[in-house]
Amino acid sequence: MSDIDGDIDLLEGVGWSCGAYGPGFDLVPSKLRRPWLRPGTVCRSPLIGRLMRDASPIVSVVAPAGYGKTTLLAQWAEDNGQAFAWVSVDEADNEPKALFTYIAEALDAVRPIGEPVFGALASPASSVSGSVVPRLGAAFASMTTPVVLVLDDVHLLHDTEGWAALSVLADHVPDGSRLVLAGRDQLPLRVARLRAEGKITEIGPADLSLTREEAASLLRNAGVVLSEAEVAALHRRTEGWPAGLYLAALAIRAGGSLPGAAGSFGGDDRFVSEYVESEFLARISARNREFLTRTAVLERMSGPLCEAVLDRPGAAADLAGLARSNLLLVPVDRRGQWYRYHHLFRDMLLAELECTEPGLLPVLRRRAASWYLGNGMPEEALEYSMAAGDVEEAARLAGEFSLQREPGPGALAGGAAGLRGRVPAEHRSRTPAVPSLTAAELRVLPMLATHLSFREIGAELFVSRHTVRSQAMSLYRKLGASSRSQAVARSRELGLLDSDDRLPSAGQG
Ligand SMILES: Nc1ncnc2c1ncn2[C@@H]1O[C@H](COP(=O)(O)OP(=O)(O)O)[C@@H](O)[C@H]1O
Ligand SMILES: [Mg+2]
Repeated sequence: MSDIDGDIDLLEGVGWSCGAYGPGFDLVPSKLRRPWLRPGTVCRSPLIGRLMRDASPIVSVVAPAGYGKTTLLAQWAEDNGQAFAWVSVDEADNEPKALFTYIAEALDAVRPIGEPVFGALASPASSVSGSVVPRLGAAFASMTTPVVLVLDDVHLLHDTEGWAALSVLADHVPDGSRLVLAGRDQLPLRVARLRAEGKITEIGPADLSLTREEAASLLRNAGVVLSEAEVAALHRRTEGWPAGLYLAALAIRAGGSLPGAAGSFGGDDRFVSEYVESEFLARISARNREFLTRTAVLERMSGPLCEAVLDRPGAAADLAGLARSNLLLVPVDRRGQWYRYHHLFRDMLLAELECTEPGLLPVLRRRAASWYLGNGMPEEALEYSMAAGDVEEAARLAGEFSLQREPGPGALAGGAAGLRGRVPAEHRSRTPAVPSLTAAELRVLPMLATHLSFREIGAELFVSRHTVRSQAMSLYRKLGASSRSQAVARSRELGLLDSDDRLPSAGQG
């Protein structure tokens, strides 16, 4: 895609419209210019289609860095016949008059909004909420053509007066026009009310994640030629995170597209760690950074688990705070109790922990094992004992669990036998020769014996259909099975599943 021709016209307005009422500071013209789109950018037409169909006055685009928020909005502005007014917000806009001067300039460049607004902005005595916003609202409302007003990077705004004024403006978006707020943090607007009134379209990380096909286009357009399987693997590793995929392309290109480069790409790659450092970690406190690197030993996290593993009071509050911030933290339940790190983010944090505090890894894993055991989750306890290198303890746990186990609703069918399968042979006494399965595979296995499709299993386990599929494939391989029903039958022979488990009767995913 090419640069945006409209920029020149748009910028001609800047500085002139203020007339006698120039702002008390120098305007930065580039803040009013929508960003240039790199050639080869993957077209987000499904999302743009949705944005155009929903005629809601407010649009929120909230996701961590690198999810393609700015790119999406720049494409929308380019593809669409509609007039766009763009402001790239920065720290200086925490002075409300500065923010509203840019908003006024952006709108004025589309249609002149008249002297009263600039007069109020220039007057030292006038207040933003008392006189600027009402006049700007009136000017916005009287525009003859609908305008899409984009404020990008609003997570940089923390001034409460500015947000109060924006909320008022949000209530006065005229029919057909839109106010688009893009940033990393949840918006401090009354979103629940806007939602109830059907006035807001919300775009989040799940919407912005690229599909496998889009990921393939991104990689191809970045000049990286990969097999379908390699693309699929990279899509899984990056979870469709656009910046992650682009960094993968850079890493593969830098490695001269060596065979296998795609397979070895992870969050410990230099490009990823530099990006994550500058976009996510540079501004967080040492305490939070320690929290992140140390909890990276965990596959998923809850407040109480973090408190136990870090052995530090207040860790639950730290997790809640970080979950609200703009990090690559993914909720895994709907109640907001459990989170996990984005795969690449976790890789990077773990690499840092291994480099800075290697001795701590087994200590942290041992604490996790004991928390899981104390909280009735022996499968996970065993997994962390194994990871900590406590093989004896793991063997003891597996034996104990198999004696205590009472099959019941929700229990992992065959869990004990499966767990014993994880313990190295020399530590097993009464176990048959069973393949070594990961905790994730052990979670999927009993579900293969149900009628659930891969998609439904994914929904139960809070993972994607693709993740379930790849775990199932790995299970088939380990079990020497070529189909789901063969895998179930083989698992029963090995005692990994109870014989009364139901056979799959419907969709295979
Ligand atoms: N549609 C896309 N096609 C190709 N690459 C993309 C796309 N969206 C995002 N990216 C990649 O991700 C990076 C971050 O995108 P950006 O729009 O700046 O994200 P955000 O505004 O969410 O931080 C871009 O520099 C680009 O490399
Ligand atoms: Mg951006």
